[in-house]
Amino acid sequence: MGDGSARRVRAFELLQCVALLIAASACSSGSGSAGETSNAAAGGSVGTTGTSTGTTSSTATSAGSSATSSGAETSTSSGTEGSTSSGGATTSAATTTGSGSSGGGSDETYPYPANAPDEDGSSLWLRYSELPIPERLAEYRAALTHVVGSGASPTLQIAEAELVRGLSGLTGSEITESAEATGAGAVVIGTPESSSVVAGMADRLTALGSEGYLVEALDVGGQAAIVVAANTDVGALYGSFALLRHLQSHRGLESLSLTSTPKIKLRLLNHWDNLDGSIERGYAGRSLWDWGALPDTLSPRYAEYARANASIGINGAVLNNVNADAEILSGSYLAKVKALADVFRPYGIKVYLTARFSAPIEIGGQSTADPADSAVQEWWQQKVEEIYGLIPDFGGLLVKANSEGQPGPGDYGRTHAEGANMLADALGPFGGIVMWRAFVYSDATPSDRIRQAYDEFKPLDGQFRENVMVQAKNGPLDFQPREPFHPLFGGMPETPIALELQVTKEYLGEDTHLAYLGSLYEEVLAADTYADGEGSSVARVVDGSVYGHALSAIAGVANIGSDANWTGSHMNQANWYVFGRLAWDPDASSQELAAEWVRQTFSNDPLVVGPVTDMLLMSRQALVDYMTPLGLVHIMATDHHYGPGPWVDDLDRDDWNPTYYHRADADGIGFDRTASGSNAVEQYFAPARDMFASRDSVPDDFLLFFHRVSWQDTLASGRNLWEELVYRYSRGVDQVGSMREAWAGVEQRIDGARFGEVAEFLQIQHWEARWWRDACLQYFGQVAGLEIPSGYAAPANALGFYQALACPADATKPRCDSIYSGEPSPTILP
Ligand code: GCU
Repeated sequence: MGDGSARRVRAFELLQCVALLIAASACSSGSGSAGETSNAAAGGSVGTTGTSTGTTSSTATSAGSSATSSGAETSTSSGTEGSTSSGGATTSAATTTGSGSSGGGSDETYPYPANAPDEDGSSLWLRYSELPIPERLAEYRAALTHVVGSGASPTLQIAEAELVRGLSGLTGSEITESAEATGAGAVVIGTPESSSVVAGMADRLTALGSEGYLVEALDVGGQAAIVVAANTDVGALYGSFALLRHLQSHRGLESLSLTSTPKIKLRLLNHWDNLDGSIERGYAGRSLWDWGALPDTLSPRYAEYARANASIGINGAVLNNVNADAEILSGSYLAKVKALADVFRPYGIKVYLTARFSAPIEIGGQSTADPADSAVQEWWQQKVEEIYGLIPDFGGLLVKANSEGQPGPGDYGRTHAEGANMLADALGPFGGIVMWRAFVYSDATPSDRIRQAYDEFKPLDGQFRENVMVQAKNGPLDFQPREPFHPLFGGMPETPIALELQVTKEYLGEDTHLAYLGSLYEEVLAADTYADGEGSSVARVVDGSVYGHALSAIAGVANIGSDANWTGSHMNQANWYVFGRLAWDPDASSQELAAEWVRQTFSNDPLVVGPVTDMLLMSRQALVDYMTPLGLVHIMATDHHYGPGPWVDDLDRDDWNPTYYHRADADGIGFDRTASGSNAVEQYFAPARDMFASRDSVPDDFLLFFHRVSWQDTLASGRNLWEELVYRYSRGVDQVGSMREAWAGVEQRIDGARFGEVAEFLQIQHWEARWWRDACLQYFGQVAGLEIPSGYAAPANALGFYQALACPADATKPRCDSIYSGEPSPTILP
């Protein structure tokens, strides 16, 4: 867990770097001249690493260092891809060997792209732009001349076509396809069954399992070649994308060797898409699934979606909202689901559905949905049989039961285990699984809502069938900008626990704010549960290694919609990307993945890679600071969860009100979850429990989550609580200002369209950060009877102004025009 002051120092260093960069100095060691070109020797990677280490994992450095990593993608060539971590700690930086100090970038200069054509973001990170640096381009043109494959299956055909497309784009040359290597520069792809070259390597493939790959520079028939090898077709597809990732990062090819197997079996997107085309908590347009046109008309976007997912290793999609409509299980919808499953299958993606527990009543003509009723059990068995008749590789069912008004076994006096097992029994014969969500809270207002999931599920440990996973959100509340890890991780030894992350930014600025979630995911994955001693990180619990479970899953609530850029903003693409990459390897470094994404999505120019990666890495902490610093949670406005609302205290349920969570009054602020309060800390294993429970050891980042603290209490920084709150709210706003300045430095180094759109969103974020700060500080100041100290900017508007705001008009693209004016920074006065 983190050290707030170290992070502050780090943040200031970052700001200095940003300032230096703006002056065209070498923060990213690119030593680019102030003018037209930048030196690529740094390739962005070293500079990025150098300027960002420690920023992303500030509160979670305690991952199991004793754990071993079998899944990290390792590479030895000039530059590495991904993390070479061999331990459980996620902070390990990738090592870089080979040419330059740059993560493999060329020593050549990156010119300004001449009139870079405007892009709409639809190509995501799969842009395959021609290399702008002659030396590397020449190397690639010589080494990558033709693709050799058998095209023996739809999956291999897709992989080969992707290679042709990628290599043609990157080299600007015509790449041909053939059945045999015809001279130097062959890229041979296949499995032992489809390729004689790969068959010759079969003994080296054993460890790769059913999804891993090996990409290597080899001699084939006396000629230099690159082989993409795997045991399965989908492994070869993943290998093709790994090679293209390497190339898109402009890394060298000498002694190329990339190998990786996933550590998590099920890497799923959860779409909260409704059958009417709307998306719950979606900010990227309408649902991709055009239910009206399916199954006859297939949008080209379905295959593009599957391709993008495959490129980052996602292998499953739950198509519909957890607040499910039973109709999805009707015959006519299942035909539509089958059509989607057929498109996704060759990309290695299985389809799953969310089941409404009362479906037997709603679409099955039953009088009850009681899991103990034999007619109900039979109905589900027949329904599952019908599904598998259409979709033989159907993944399984996700269920939200007895939570927020959803039906469930509790309606009939049955437990979650009884409900889940009924479905598991139906799915089991077909190899399907049940993902039973632990996000529950009962209709009665609890003494402490965050205790509920654990209190309800822990006693059921050992009662679930083997094909049931309990799916828990990363934290015990609800996808807040920062929460401690959920105590169910490690808390149910007999049950495989799936980790549910939110990729859509419901509580983190929705479509507009830049908040790179790799930092959040890494923090959670690395957190040590101590369930089986030190090193029992959330990652190790989730990958099954702590308790020896074969089933493992990470699910992400998707941020994808019909917008041209897929995710509502260009920067939100990074969250889809890092979700997939971390689900594949939860020990990978979010910092490395940020740089990897920037290189592919924007540019390899170190004067882009360095500052943009730094922006990503500072963004989540900046957002925590200007929204919910020091362990505050759930102080947003009602319903749409957009904008501040710490004053809200009149909702029907106590635990819907922000005042329930922060408990501010004239004496202090915070929720006492120690033994003198709700004692929620008892749900954690020691020493995590003791660390959270003690006022002396609890990290400042979780202070008010676990403790009630007097306004005058002095923190590690030497400031008292009120001063620290003012400082952090203000720092967050000013960091957005720094992010904007850094972004200004990449103008003309990327296309104008995306530059302008990101700049516009950063401006909105800056105004809204100031809105959060001014509203929250005035509210808390009023409650505490304290003034904002000197040295800080006065609020732009009075508290009453913020309390009277009635925005947004449109919750799917939320905006608040009346606060969009003025200069938000500096709030910490110079
Ligand atoms: C949050 C979110 C809901 C969602 C729920 C869930 O409460 O606001 O829209 O349905 O989480 O995860 O089930």
